[in-house]
Amino acid sequence: MSEPVSWRRIGAVLRVVVDHPPVNALAAAVRQGLEAAIDEAERDAQVAAVLIMGAGRHFIAGADIREFGQAPREPSLSRVCTRIEACGKPVVAALHGSALGGGLEVALAAHYRAAAPDAKLGLPEVRLGLLPGAGGTQRLPRLVGARDALELMLGGQPLTAAQAHAAKLVDRLLPGADLEAEALAFVRELLDRGAAPRRSRDAAGLEDRAAARAAIDAARAAQARKAPHLLSPHRIVDAVEAALERPFDEGLALERRLFLECMASPQRAGLIHAFFAERETAKVPEAAAAAPRAVQAIGVVGGGTMGAGIAVAALRAGCRVDMVERDAAGAARGRAHVEAILDGLVAGGRLTAAERDAALARFGSAHDYASLRDADLVIEAAFEDMAVKQAVFAELDRVCRPGAILATNTSYLDVDLIAAATSRPADVIGLHFFSPAHVMKLLEIVVPAKAAADVVASAFALAKRLGKIPVRAGICDGFIGNRMLAAYRHAANVMMEDGASPYAIDAAVCDLGFPMGPFQVYDLAGGDINWAMRKRQAATRDPRARYVQVADRLCERGWFGRKTGRGWYRYAPGGRAGTEDPEVLAIVEAERARAGVVPRAFGAQEIVRRILAAMANEGARIVDEGIALRPLDVDVALLHGYGFPRHLGGPMHHADAVGLAAILADIRAYAADDPLFWRPSPLLLRLVEQGRGFAGLNRLE
Ligand code: 3HC
Ligand code: NAI
Repeated sequence: MSEPVSWRRIGAVLRVVVDHPPVNALAAAVRQGLEAAIDEAERDAQVAAVLIMGAGRHFIAGADIREFGQAPREPSLSRVCTRIEACGKPVVAALHGSALGGGLEVALAAHYRAAAPDAKLGLPEVRLGLLPGAGGTQRLPRLVGARDALELMLGGQPLTAAQAHAAKLVDRLLPGADLEAEALAFVRELLDRGAAPRRSRDAAGLEDRAAARAAIDAARAAQARKAPHLLSPHRIVDAVEAALERPFDEGLALERRLFLECMASPQRAGLIHAFFAERETAKVPEAAAAAPRAVQAIGVVGGGTMGAGIAVAALRAGCRVDMVERDAAGAARGRAHVEAILDGLVAGGRLTAAERDAALARFGSAHDYASLRDADLVIEAAFEDMAVKQAVFAELDRVCRPGAILATNTSYLDVDLIAAATSRPADVIGLHFFSPAHVMKLLEIVVPAKAAADVVASAFALAKRLGKIPVRAGICDGFIGNRMLAAYRHAANVMMEDGASPYAIDAAVCDLGFPMGPFQVYDLAGGDINWAMRKRQAATRDPRARYVQVADRLCERGWFGRKTGRGWYRYAPGGRAGTEDPEVLAIVEAERARAGVVPRAFGAQEIVRRILAAMANEGARIVDEGIALRPLDVDVALLHGYGFPRHLGGPMHHADAVGLAAILADIRAYAADDPLFWRPSPLLLRLVEQGRGFAGLNRLE
């Protein structure tokens, strides 16, 4: 293995290369190496300047996140950056790929920055519950001003090289064809000009004090509104304020304290769990065991809400897409639907008109299944009805070429039964997209009993190509996500019948960090959809289960939510924000009386505890039954499909953070109200008995 940091003198320039795959993260050995390289530059009288570069695809992607939570090892990155900045010879950083977090902080500590066109410069620490902790909060505002610095640190989104150049964060844009030669030429040019070290701590970006103060106050107000439950955005604003108000070294010391405070917070643990979990979900046995089949031409059956969104996702990934509808009118509607989504993306600046035209040139819409003859993979998104799905699959079996993968987007139905309608069940799989399918990141990959390993591997490869986060799921009613949702909704409904107002439940859930509460989601999705499902399930429902009828009463009145102007809330025509409805509360009260419930008070804390306990318990069942391979798969499904607050890491991580023994005690206490629902999962009982948590559980081991 090569050294994580190596250096070589090329003429008067000490070229330092960070080579620590996969992303050159700043592990202790890299920090030590960088410090030693600067020592070498100071020591060697023949060195006139230093050039720092990264090997491989990135400059440096940041601190080594895997070291977080362990005992700190010297030198700290902050010390390394101070050392770089203090170097008596000009230090130049040449950036390509990711220059993120601590990686950008190294570049900010350097005296000059050059970048290849593919470079991405960002401080994404906020996404991990942290703040830049190696001088970034102090140097960046001095370089680019408080407003731009706050935007970069609070948004967490990187700048392109061109944007960074425009913001004066990058001194020289390089062509990037031969970065080393181009960067060396830039360093020599600086030396020829007699350029001296130019320290970011002395830069004048905060000289307009009034503008900086206004930016800080505006950011503080915006974060109080947007992220009241988060820690690190507020601490970022505090740190930038210190950059304005205090000498550099004092600001640096405060940044360190705030960084350590964030590092110690459960939010940091939750967000970093989410970061690693969403990379783990793609690691499934089939993807390791089999090579994916080639997929270029995709068929879509059904041009409704889901079919159109799926088609757009595939078109944007460069695939050919052929859509099949029931008749000519359906085919035209499907095409119009796809065009409307693409036009929306153009209007929103996320797609150019040329890209839209190119996508449409690869799109066909017909009402003849023959157009699917050459498809490599077909995704069915017709009505949620077993007879319809089986008929579609029998037809696909007839027309599709051997080796084509046949997928269903069903939300709940048994994919084994759908596969059984074909003569090739090994080629059938569930690809459960979420609405809107061209936007939502989650893709549940539902694996039926007979699916071939390379079909599963192909589904994971497709997810990657479409930019989706795949989660492997087994077959049950609702797979992972919708089954968790059902438990969550049940807990909410029963609480409502027992005394909590739907509005108090929505408010408590939103305060926790969900974008919407359960009743707001019913109104958004359309109450009729869930009503139809409840009617379907009526025949098989356990008669001992508590069944709360309030939603049925609303649906009987035609109150389906936003689309009908009223549901749990009332909506002004075309309005999105609903207002509370006293008539709904009267219906709730009438239903309580009918069910013989004596209402009692629920505080916000109890509301969220019950909801989180219900999810942890159902998640444990899902893992125990092998529907999810690992608790982290449940977490990722909830984070990316259902708006579960990311800073809690997902329902399973959160349960671990609370402690499974405490969750079990809650479940036992709640069982008095609803014994069937609040039976502890066998896995939860086992783990509590063994004194273990969900973390690290893996059904494959
Ligand atoms: N530390 C440790 N491991 C990291 C890492 C990091 N900063 N960044 C990525 N990795 C690992 C991933 O876990 C993955 O490991 P695996 O192969 O075992 O699953 C591997 O590197 C490749 O990562 P990706 O699959 O994400 O590769 P991509 O090419 O898709 O993306 C990336 C590359 C854009 C750099 C992306 O990995 C990323 O966003 N990384 C995190 C960047 C970040 O948040 N940096 C800030 C860290 S905090 C910090 O710097 C604090 C400082 O202020 C003191
Ligand atoms: P939709 O009603 O908007 O669209 C279904 C389309 O399928 C209609 O345009 C219909 O004409 C067409 N169709 C029906 N039978 C067909 C056949 N035999 N051949 C060709 N086309 C046919 O329904 P939506 O919402 O798009 O749902 C489709 C599937 O996706 C369902 O299984 C649903 O459960 C699932 N799903 C829906 C989600 C949602 O949020 N709407 C989310 C995830 C999955």
